[in-house]
Amino acid sequence: MIDLFENENTGGREILGPEAFILKRFALPVANVLLAKIALIQTLSPFRHMMTPGGFTMSVGLTNCGQLGWTSDRRGYKYSPIDPVTGNPWPAMPNEFLELAKSAASEAGFVNFVPDACLINRYIPGTKLSLHQDKDEQDLSAPIVSVSLGIPAVFQFGGFERDAPKIKVPLFHGDVVVWGGADRLRFHGVLPLKPNSHWLLGEQRINLTFRKSSPLNSDFLIKGLG
Ligand code: SIN
Ligand code: FE2
Repeated sequence: MIDLFENENTGGREILGPEAFILKRFALPVANVLLAKIALIQTLSPFRHMMTPGGFTMSVGLTNCGQLGWTSDRRGYKYSPIDPVTGNPWPAMPNEFLELAKSAASEAGFVNFVPDACLINRYIPGTKLSLHQDKDEQDLSAPIVSVSLGIPAVFQFGGFERDAPKIKVPLFHGDVVVWGGADRLRFHGVLPLKPNSHWLLGEQRINLTFRKSSPLNSDFLIKGLG
């Protein structure tokens, strides 16, 4: 039996699937830089609660940085170069974000990962993210790189059907989950956060999800397809 709390304070990795790993504390050395950049990003594109196509308001607060941002409304989910709240492009992806995402991906065996989208999720105690697949991306050959900051959460990682068995693993400040290849379309979600407080973030968890959405060169997408 795997001890899920193994290496809690020591780094190392936990295996979730053939091509899915938690890189424990991998982002810790750059956590402060990430938080400073997030503070800047949210002044340009504030966190907001989006509506799902089913008519529910998401409990996570969302914003994005990078060439493309993930959005949801009554019409569906999509990636857009423009923040619908501000009418401006999403804030640029800071270099430190890009470097972290690339190095975590390559640590997990995915070389040449160049994300064009970074979704920023903000949770408070009670917030959850229902079980879902990340399948709005046009390039499913690229992995997902997901960085946890702040108070802990329990991540659910399942199969390819919603009701397949799931494992539950705690994610702590600095942990990075990477999944791709054979595991790319696994259902996953976050259980409601327990009340807690983090010395840097207070009663908050922030998750950065790096993805490659467009199979095309994004310059072409923006200039060529308007
Ligand atoms: C996501 O699946 O988009 C985010 C997962 C997380 O917050 O850890
Ligand atoms: Fe997801």
